[in-house]
Amino acid sequence: MRKLPVLLLLCVAVCSSYPVDRAAVDKDDSMDFVQKYLEDYYNLTKDVKQVVRRKDSSLVVKKIQEMQKFLGLEVTGKLDSNTLEVMHKPRCGVPDVGYFSTFPGLPKWRKNDLTYRIVNYTLDLPRSVIDSTIEKALKIWEEVTPLTFSKISEGEADIMITFAVREHGDFSPFDGPGKVLAHAYAPGPGIYGDAHFDDDEQWTKDTSGVNLFLVAAHELGHSLGLFHSTDSNALMYPVYNPLTDLARFRLSQDDVNGIQSLYGPPPASPPEPVEPTESTPPEPGTPATCDPALSFDAISTLRGEILFFKDRHFWRKSFRRLEPEFHLISSFWPPLPSSIDAACEVISKDTVFIFKGTQFWAIRGNDVQPGYPRSIHTLGFPSTVKKIDAAISDKETKKTYFFVEDKYWRFDEKRQSMEPGFPKQIVEDFPGVEPKVDAVFEAFGFFYFFNGSSQFEFDPNAKKVTHVLKSNKWLNC
Ligand SMILES: *[C@@H]1O[C@H](CO)[C@@H](O)[C@H](O)[C@H]1NC(C)=O
Ligand SMILES: *[C@@H]1O[C@H](CO)[C@@H](O)[C@H](O)[C@H]1NC(C)=O
Ligand SMILES: *[C@@H]1O[C@H](CO)[C@@H](O)[C@H](O)[C@H]1NC(C)=O
Ligand SMILES: [Zn+2]
Ligand SMILES: [Zn+2]
Repeated sequence: MRKLPVLLLLCVAVCSSYPVDRAAVDKDDSMDFVQKYLEDYYNLTKDVKQVVRRKDSSLVVKKIQEMQKFLGLEVTGKLDSNTLEVMHKPRCGVPDVGYFSTFPGLPKWRKNDLTYRIVNYTLDLPRSVIDSTIEKALKIWEEVTPLTFSKISEGEADIMITFAVREHGDFSPFDGPGKVLAHAYAPGPGIYGDAHFDDDEQWTKDTSGVNLFLVAAHELGHSLGLFHSTDSNALMYPVYNPLTDLARFRLSQDDVNGIQSLYGPPPASPPEPVEPTESTPPEPGTPATCDPALSFDAISTLRGEILFFKDRHFWRKSFRRLEPEFHLISSFWPPLPSSIDAACEVISKDTVFIFKGTQFWAIRGNDVQPGYPRSIHTLGFPSTVKKIDAAISDKETKKTYFFVEDKYWRFDEKRQSMEPGFPKQIVEDFPGVEPKVDAVFEAFGFFYFFNGSSQFEFDPNAKKVTHVLKSNKWLNC
């Protein structure tokens, strides 16, 4: 029995990424592909294969549902086009079945100062670029943990990084161009902790080939002991997502929670608030309240207070207290993502809606409501709308305004439908407001529109801007 954990470890420690196979596949190939996918990632036993081929097996339906749930898809149990599309995306080879969530003693490093060595290099990029890319990929984990990484150039490091093709000595051969991109091993001695990159890929700094930074950051997450996340915004989500805006790459709150559950926060930062009502001073590396360049991701009222969202934090401004409080979003609402796009309170429902990308959540006080996130397209947005910049709900008219680039939509809260005749141009009905809005909220009958470090006080009755102020004026700056 004592050997069992080690065997389980071996089963899941290898991580590989598969590329898109956009080639149309006939039904039979597609069934083979689906079976392999479920076997590889959802623990579908190989024995059931014959059964599956002949008739609709409830076990396969169950596995498809499990997969849809994990990947954040609609749980239909059917291989609809959305499901097949996600299944064909590049992904990591670690199974999504939760071995480790039920396994006591998660593998992690028992020390905080780790070494790494780039054993050899791909010729696709200059050595200096590979060095700095790996350093950057480690840095994102270093920033949120007490871990440090030192590069060594000889001998055995905790994390040995290699570029190799085909069979390379670990019984997990690479497969030439495409398909498997890389794999990595969970923390431990010897090969454990190591990350291997398939040198038959075209490794690039940008996303024209396979982006080395994104793959390395994900694989190094495995090297540190993280497994897959069901959060589609997370770096550790199993499906590879070649971000185009690499400069703005950030770990999701989910990645941070995961790695901090193993290693804790960096030593310099103060302990996180235990009680959501307690305030913590800003930690280094977090937005400075009175930075004149400060901008916000989203702003909403909540039961008479104002919440200013920025990255993974928010300020909570209460008119009963002089000083605004500063908190981690996750300390109030753990399921919410960081860097949200928009937020608005619908007072008649005592609910704040939080928007990010095509998803939205509903929160009531401290609770994220069940059944969320939902798709913004269920509100009536066309599929071309991929994110909302800002939202505000007018309690008098019971209409919610959604700002998307230079246009806005209006949603009728009573009829629960998008109003006809929208979108309209923002300038048409909100003259003086910059065409793009970061955030908006209402106070004392005015709408406050935020654009970068400026805010515009707008009188909806007079239909004009009455003041232009610094964005952080509400925070006593
Ligand atoms: C995988 O499937 C086998 C056989 O059905 C089962 O015994 C095992 O517990 C499953 N493992 C996980 C992690 O679900
Ligand atoms: C790099 O090292 C690995 C492991 O020793 C080896 O399998 C591989 O062939 C090497 N690759 C290159 C490009 O030298
Ligand atoms: C609004 O933001 C845009 C883009 O960030 C910027 O070019 C513009 O100058 C801003 N306007 C004001 C008044 O701050
Ligand atoms: Zn992975
Ligand atoms: Zn390998």
